[in-house]
Amino acid sequence: MSQTWWRGAAIYQVYLRSFADGNGDGVGDLAGLRSRLPYLKDLGIGAIWLNPWYPSPMADGGYDVADYRDIEPVFGTLAEAEKFISEAHELDIKVIIDVVPNHSSTESAWFKEALADPSARGRFWFADEPLNDWQSIFGGSAWTQVPDGQWYLHLFAPEQPDFNWTNPEVHQEFENVLRFWLDRGVDGVRIDSAALLIKSDTGYEDLDEVHDVYRRWREVADEYGERVLIGEVWLPDQERFARYLRPDELHTAFNFDFLSCPWDPAELRKVIDLTLATHTPIGAPPTWVLSNHDVTRPVTRYGRADTSFAHGGALHGSPSDLELGYRRARAAALLAMALPGSVYVYQGEELGLPEVEDLPDDLRQDPMYARSGGTNPGRDGCRIPLPWSGEEPPYGFGAGTPWLPQPESWRKLTVEAQRTDLGSMLNLYRTGLGLRRELLGDGTLAWLDLGPDVLAFTRDSGLTCVTNLGAGPVPLPPGEVALASGQLEDGLLPSDTTVWLTAS
Ligand code: GLC
Repeated sequence: MSQTWWRGAAIYQVYLRSFADGNGDGVGDLAGLRSRLPYLKDLGIGAIWLNPWYPSPMADGGYDVADYRDIEPVFGTLAEAEKFISEAHELDIKVIIDVVPNHSSTESAWFKEALADPSARGRFWFADEPLNDWQSIFGGSAWTQVPDGQWYLHLFAPEQPDFNWTNPEVHQEFENVLRFWLDRGVDGVRIDSAALLIKSDTGYEDLDEVHDVYRRWREVADEYGERVLIGEVWLPDQERFARYLRPDELHTAFNFDFLSCPWDPAELRKVIDLTLATHTPIGAPPTWVLSNHDVTRPVTRYGRADTSFAHGGALHGSPSDLELGYRRARAAALLAMALPGSVYVYQGEELGLPEVEDLPDDLRQDPMYARSGGTNPGRDGCRIPLPWSGEEPPYGFGAGTPWLPQPESWRKLTVEAQRTDLGSMLNLYRTGLGLRRELLGDGTLAWLDLGPDVLAFTRDSGLTCVTNLGAGPVPLPPGEVALASGQLEDGLLPSDTTVWLTAS
């Protein structure tokens, strides 16, 4: 792949705990992932992004990192991670890892040192009393008291103390961590909570000094050539968002406006246009994201009366017509894959898995659940171990009992069941990603006007993508049908369906 492979890549997100379990302890691991690399190759993706794989007490699914230079023993070893990187590379699959610079774990060496020795607290935010009334993003106060009476700041769970980025040691540490992994051949880094690092009296979101950090990180990444920095930047203001993508900062960032957008033609058109308008002038490729490990699965979201994504579990349990949601998720997948830039596929999206909304409360593990006093169900419902094969749980996930239970209804959604079904979601993704490699990816689009309910555009290769979000069927522009998310009706494109046309 070229220097700029990331501009048009299809990136598959692996939530390691729930991908495939190689040693039978009920938790996904590197052995499981390595054994399934042929599946990912066959799916047609160009890169894998893994959620944090470091030693961690798992207070927040691994986003509480105890050691940035090793692998969580439940997942495997550093030697295995290195093998995984080279095996992926042999298959021409790039590897992107997650780096968490905003906060650490209370089990990290630095934090333990800070607890034992008050003079070693400068890498975190300690004070004699809470300096403000900030609330943790997971609920409750953002300050927790330690036995000697001081308090420390944690924007997330108390087990995730925030680093103090006014301390040069913190800067140096993360440059070293970047080099540690770049030296081991990783092709990119996804930066967790990227806009939150800098704190001041006025707040912590998107403060200007954060850009100095990423300018430096870009210098480091550039020393290695073909590497990519990807920001997790949730910001409503597109101009502020675009500042992270200036030529000397991050290469790309997740498009959460697209992910959150309701299934509505005008809203989607607005988000796509705004995305292109902010990215094009700075030469950064847009990204198209439908889901990840933090949000409601699209099949469930698109089947609800309110199809937007809302944080805080606000829509959890509201009725969902899963058949309708599934139909729309298929249409959305082809739309996302056709847009210019890179596209993300969160594991299980290619199987059309719905959100699991009826997990028993005592099994919920996401700190959001406990910290909100149970008012927010948390994110476990999109993190259920994948169904690979067989007629009953654990559906080939591994020999043991999966760390979160899989629903009975997933029998029909296993990889094995979908592989031979030409009309399955899995085959839609496979065919779509295959065509995408040849005809789509980086570039531009030209809109076609097919009325207010239809999103239609032609890409540089001549491929036309048409999505009908209206109530009734619509006629198609000229072209050969290359792929459709649903059956055409007498040559017309039905509601909630996307078609790809090539020039005839
Ligand atoms: C990011 C991650 C999320 C995690 C949080 C704190 O938003 O995607 O899973 O809980 O950061 O690290």
